[in-house]
Amino acid sequence: MIDIHNHILPGIDDGCRSLEESLELARLAVKEGIHHIIATPHHANGRYQNEAEKVRQAAAQLNLALSEEGVNLQIHTGQEIRVYKELLDDLNAGKLLTLAGSRYMLLEFPSRQVPEGIEDLLHELSLAGITAIIAHPERNMELVGNLSRLADLIDRGALAQMTTHSINGLFGRKIQSISLDMCRSNLIHFLSSDAHNPMERPFFLQTAATYIMKKLGEGTYSYYKENASRVLYNQEIIPISHNVHNKKRFLFW
Ligand SMILES: [Fe+2]
Repeated sequence: MIDIHNHILPGIDDGCRSLEESLELARLAVKEGIHHIIATPHHANGRYQNEAEKVRQAAAQLNLALSEEGVNLQIHTGQEIRVYKELLDDLNAGKLLTLAGSRYMLLEFPSRQVPEGIEDLLHELSLAGITAIIAHPERNMELVGNLSRLADLIDRGALAQMTTHSINGLFGRKIQSISLDMCRSNLIHFLSSDAHNPMERPFFLQTAATYIMKKLGEGTYSYYKENASRVLYNQEIIPISHNVHNKKRFLFW
């Protein structure tokens, strides 16, 4: 299996705090059958700046340590990029990374709303040959309250990644129910962990896969699994048609 969103690199964001923690998390990944990880430290989220070169170095160091420890896991580079004003300038300046050097880039929205000007950004990225993957839309209040908004972004070429902990219910039943709703509406293209550490937030990809297969069928999980592989090998992803028709919901947080 392949995980395309996590914070396994040590000491550069709110993920693993030390090399030991990263190695522990890596061993848990292998236990679950994960052998490729695209590491996506936070970038430009107001707390952490992790430009491309810093991520490359951290990934190379962790790969070396994994090899020395005999852990059968390969780390690839990426970033979880908060949508910010200078994003396109920084892309042109070589400060940003796509996922494993592919055409896919992981974008993070603020938790409350969809960033202003996102449509223009998606358009500009597509002109640069980049497809945006929206990280965990099930944790964005505007998208949760209005699935049509997410559907519109997907119609404009974006893809969306669901977090295993949301599906598994670790963020509460409401998020779990919204997550299933998004999956059922064909608004999700990837399942990945957003793992931060071996204690509170490991991968739980197997648990989420089992739950999705039970609730939505094996085909849904196969689609997510295949798409993660398509990111790693930079192959085209065909979105399946969503079935959203003005789905708005009232929120009771
Ligand atoms: Fe993340």
